[in-house]
Amino acid sequence: MKSIFYPVKLFEIKRQKPPRTLVLGGTGKTGRRVVQSLWDGEHSVRIGSRQADPAFDWQDSAGWDKCLDGVTQVYVNFAPDLAMPMARPAITAFTEMAHRKGVRKLVLLSGRGEEEALACEQIVRFSGMDWTIVRSAWFNQNFSEGAFTGMVQDGQIALPVGGTCEPFVDVHDVADVVTAALSEEGHEGKVYETTGPRLLSFEQIVEELSGALGRTISFADIPHEAFLEGIQGMGMPPEMVWLLEYLFATVMDGRNEQIGYGVQEALGRPPRDFRDYARLTALTGVWDAAQAFNLVSV
Ligand SMILES: NC(=O)c1ccc[n+]([C@@H]2O[C@H](COP(=O)([O-])OP(=O)(O)OC[C@H]3O[C@@H](n4cnc5c(N)ncnc54)[C@H](OP(=O)(O)O)[C@@H]3O)[C@@H](O)[C@H]2O)c1
Repeated sequence: MKSIFYPVKLFEIKRQKPPRTLVLGGTGKTGRRVVQSLWDGEHSVRIGSRQADPAFDWQDSAGWDKCLDGVTQVYVNFAPDLAMPMARPAITAFTEMAHRKGVRKLVLLSGRGEEEALACEQIVRFSGMDWTIVRSAWFNQNFSEGAFTGMVQDGQIALPVGGTCEPFVDVHDVADVVTAALSEEGHEGKVYETTGPRLLSFEQIVEELSGALGRTISFADIPHEAFLEGIQGMGMPPEMVWLLEYLFATVMDGRNEQIGYGVQEALGRPPRDFRDYARLTALTGVWDAAQAFNLVSV
């Protein structure tokens, strides 16, 4: 996924209705869908992104004050990941500033099985503002809008997972839970474990993808050393190499091999299945290599 296209340059959507919501990561997988849903509900939204005006950068707190002007609630979607050492001081400084500026509610996107993310959750819980935590499984859309897209296009997913299963979740469900928490009463003080409806092995993932695409996508469980060598060879920034290695070596060790019920609890309906995601996404052409850089939004 190269970029996000909006019909008009709408980095700030001004509507009369309070509250004004700042959606951090508002151009990303969950954030842009949250923006769209809030916008559809005629909420006043400001998109937090390094490309926005005013720009929001987690690594440059000088711009935060302006982004928080007039804001009463924030979707806190940290990039690249709450597991990174930079996250804790950034979340601390951001929540303190948000509180000072009059923000009343935070909805935090967190990751399952990450000690460092739990520490960030604690910062939000004790921030003095209302809070909701959306603690999410790995996203289906990593296969179409993220790190694994190229592998599906190439027909082989090669990752060091050692037989571990993950209850992959659709980002539409995560975004729906976040939107509910931002636009309805009753989600304050809740921790929603958002997962898909079933645990999936990577063998099952490629089976679903192959079925949806009508061609074989294979899976190879590779050693960590080979994976590390591969991502280093791709010229990735060192912090991203560290993050991917951490996610596969530490988080993908079986600790998250259980279903969560956050989607049902928050929305009163079950989560979407990976099969539906695979079929709808295949129709967009994103997994056709020739379409590699097209926008997908299903
Ligand atoms: N991917 C998963 O499976 C998964 C699962 C559970 C939880 N999460 C959590 O979801 C969050 C987002 O991860 P993602 O992989 O899904 O990415 P994403 O939301 O698709 O993309 C990252 C977003 O953050 C923005 N961003 C990137 N660097 C930034 C910076 N330095 N300052 C401010 N904004 C920045 C990007 O916008 P600009 O480039 O426009 O600035 C983009 O909107 C992370 O905290 C991750 O831990 C992810």
